[in-house]
Amino acid sequence: MFTSSLGKKYLMALSGLVLIGFVFVHMAGNLQILMGQEKINAYAHALQSLPMPILWGSRLFLLAAVIVHAVTAYQLVKENRRARPHSNYIETTKKAGLASLRMGLTGSILLAFIIFHLLHFTIRLIYPEYDKMMTMVGSPDSDKIHDVYTMVIAGFQHTWVSVFYVVAMFLLCGHLAHGVSSAFQSLGIRSENWRAKLELAAKAYAWVIFAGFSIVPLLVLAQNWGMIKFFNFSSGMEPLALN
Ligand code: HEM
Repeated sequence: MFTSSLGKKYLMALSGLVLIGFVFVHMAGNLQILMGQEKINAYAHALQSLPMPILWGSRLFLLAAVIVHAVTAYQLVKENRRARPHSNYIETTKKAGLASLRMGLTGSILLAFIIFHLLHFTIRLIYPEYDKMMTMVGSPDSDKIHDVYTMVIAGFQHTWVSVFYVVAMFLLCGHLAHGVSSAFQSLGIRSENWRAKLELAAKAYAWVIFAGFSIVPLLVLAQNWGMIKFFNFSSGMEPLALN
């Protein structure tokens, strides 16, 4: 079943739903940075300290969802192109073609963003000094833990990084606005009666995700430019980083 077009649509929708759920949980977790260094560090440390099978099981599950989503999307776009006669385009196929082109484009850029993001904040290859940011703040015992608060704020002090994140979040917003309601359609849950309501809910969800993720880099930039005083950091971050 999973090699047929219908099966692939199901797989794309199911893996999409997993990713839709993940972005919400990740965004809500990240927002704890607004409550201070202790809160976000303790949260990140608790996640990193989950038992190995749970931590790596969830990471592999997420990775599988990204791969299945990207591969089935690519295959479906290719199949649709092959099936569509080029000569007598009718208006609806033209529209559907444009939507899938846009989803393919935003999806590919988001894939590049995810790779960058993992190298930036999880594997920490882009700025290896983030690995050395350790602190007692948020630690459950007397051991130093990774200072995620300082790392994220230091990360967003680079204007180009913040701009890249906000642009990527805008593309994620566009991808979700279309993707959420089409996932429900592929799974056969979207009826004509519900179509308009579901599309509205999908758009609202997409904007919440955009706002929830973008607020952190935007606040750091605003503070860096002297417009507000929100986070507890000094320009350059070094003293806090080595606490
Ligand atoms: C402003 C936006 C974002 C911020 C501030 C942010 C922050 C972070 C941080 C700090 C980590 C590392 C946590 C740690 O190692 O303790 C992380 C990991 C991660 N983020 Fe994000 N993130 C953002 C957006 C996103 C988006 C949009 C996605 C996916 C579409 C995403 C996917 C991931 C993944 C997959 C991980 C790895 C989780 C793991 O270690 O297993 N992030 N993020």
